[in-house]
Amino acid sequence: MPAFTATAPGKVILFGEHAVVYGQPAIAVPVEQVRARVVIEPQPRLKPGTLRLLAKDIQLDARLDELAPDQPLVFAIRLLLSELKIERSPACTVRVSSTIPVAAGLGSGAAVSVALLRAFSAFLGQPLPDERVSRLAYEVEKIHHGTPSGIDNTVVTYAEPVYFVKGQSIQRFSVPQPFTIVIGDTGISSSTSLAVGDVRQAYQADPELYQAYFSAIGKLAEEARRCIAEGTIETLGALMHENHVLLQKIGVSCEELDRLVSTANQAGAWGAKLSGSGRGGNMIAVVESGLAEKVAHSLRQVGAVRTIITQVR
Ligand code: PMV
Repeated sequence: MPAFTATAPGKVILFGEHAVVYGQPAIAVPVEQVRARVVIEPQPRLKPGTLRLLAKDIQLDARLDELAPDQPLVFAIRLLLSELKIERSPACTVRVSSTIPVAAGLGSGAAVSVALLRAFSAFLGQPLPDERVSRLAYEVEKIHHGTPSGIDNTVVTYAEPVYFVKGQSIQRFSVPQPFTIVIGDTGISSSTSLAVGDVRQAYQADPELYQAYFSAIGKLAEEARRCIAEGTIETLGALMHENHVLLQKIGVSCEELDRLVSTANQAGAWGAKLSGSGRGGNMIAVVESGLAEKVAHSLRQVGAVRTIITQVR
């Protein structure tokens, strides 16, 4: 029997992380160089309901019924079966692999969920449209993130640049002048739910101040969308810098991120900022394409464990 395969890209947030949880707009784009991949191999000789999960990257090799119900892969499969009103799945092996670093702000959890939902729904003979894939992946995101805004599952599902406002339907926008982003990984893994929880506490302690930070970040995202639409990409750099300063103020940067951001600026980037929940993970720099290798090299020299050069188009 043929196998059913699906993949999904990683993502970076260009503008608006954290503020997006409080209703402000954010911009995210797919990162095609890193991907999650799920292959479902039917096992027609085994009893229906026999599901084996294999994910070498996380040393997982177990039957579905041996795992905790809130294990994200288990949760996603059960959610899908209930959505499709299927009581017992035909027997199969589910192979999960990913080149997206985990807990680094590159959307690895969302990409695995999206690839799994697509491959498994195809295996069940009812491939899901994007809107339903994204909605179910959002439910799985709650396990990873607690109170996710929904931006990760949205950009990873649609695999194109999105202007995202929590609770609203996806807004795509065109990028008339493609531009280059360098992504630098601090190598420090950090928990999104912890960072989001800390920001919530700080917000509750001083709602007025934090609301001001969030709306300033929202304005930057709006302005960035205009710059991208008009093709005035150099101007994005200054907006990124302002966004980074605001993220420092809300307490989600760290020494290593700040070092990578200032190194990118010194190496000639138009601007740079942390990307994702912060406290580790990745930063991004918007650069003139001819300078991308130089900026990436400088980032590795000051400790970035990996760099990715990607085009936003
Ligand atoms: O998964 P990360 O690290 O890219 O963080 C997601 C972005 C946040 O705004 C911090 C949280 C959210 O749900 O939008």
